[in-house]
Amino acid sequence: MKIDIVSIFPSFFDVLDISLLGKARQNGMINLAVHDLRDFAHDRHRTVDDTPYGGGAGMVMKPEPWGEALDRILGREEPSAADAAGAGSQPRPLVIFPSPAGEVFNQEMARTLAQEDHLVFGCGRYEGIDQRVVDYAADQARVRLVSLGDYVLNGGEVATMAMIEAIGRLIPGVVGNPESLTEESHEDGLLEYPSYTKPSSWRGYDVPPVLLSGNHGAVHSWRHEQRVERTRRVRPDLLSVVLDADAATPESE
Ligand code: ADE
Repeated sequence: MKIDIVSIFPSFFDVLDISLLGKARQNGMINLAVHDLRDFAHDRHRTVDDTPYGGGAGMVMKPEPWGEALDRILGREEPSAADAAGAGSQPRPLVIFPSPAGEVFNQEMARTLAQEDHLVFGCGRYEGIDQRVVDYAADQARVRLVSLGDYVLNGGEVATMAMIEAIGRLIPGVVGNPESLTEESHEDGLLEYPSYTKPSSWRGYDVPPVLLSGNHGAVHSWRHEQRVERTRRVRPDLLSVVLDADAATPESE
């Protein structure tokens, strides 16, 4: 997967060099480039913002540097081998603008986005980006406004980082043992069960005896009960979705 990020704080993304995603970059599974928006601003101060039309607090990101950055990134698309052979057009890149005004990111969206060939993240700051940038991007590519959650961050960088981590680990081959992806919170609508490792007793806290029993069926049932109980306690909103889906499944299935 190709990922481009546009930001006025490119060094924010230095941490994507380490850990699982760093490895995925090294072995070519993720091809990630970070672009400094100020490189596309040509005045002496490399200005990227201005006061809002209509008045109001704060500053708005100017369209011109964004237009140049998007042209550079989207204009660089190289035709695939299939394209070159005339076998149909390549899917257009997906441009994501992190925004508290967007659709809320979740595991299902991460799964969908992990199947894309080319993601572009446009990180806004201040009061946001001139709307015409979003409209222009939508004419060149596909566009989604995506929110990390119902709270306001200072800009799109942290949201982009979280999304790239959630998406990147779902790209086949990035996580060594794919089984570890299936038993996680949010994969099937339930939160994950609590985990334990050695020693079996630590500072007076004991590992639940069923996990030491060697009885796989009992371990499986206990873990499922733990997931349901934890979800009911912490995220009852998720449980109602799972139960509704179960109720809607015809008996014959
Ligand atoms: N930028 C500011 N707040 C945000 C949020 N909640 N999600 C994504 N991008 C943001």
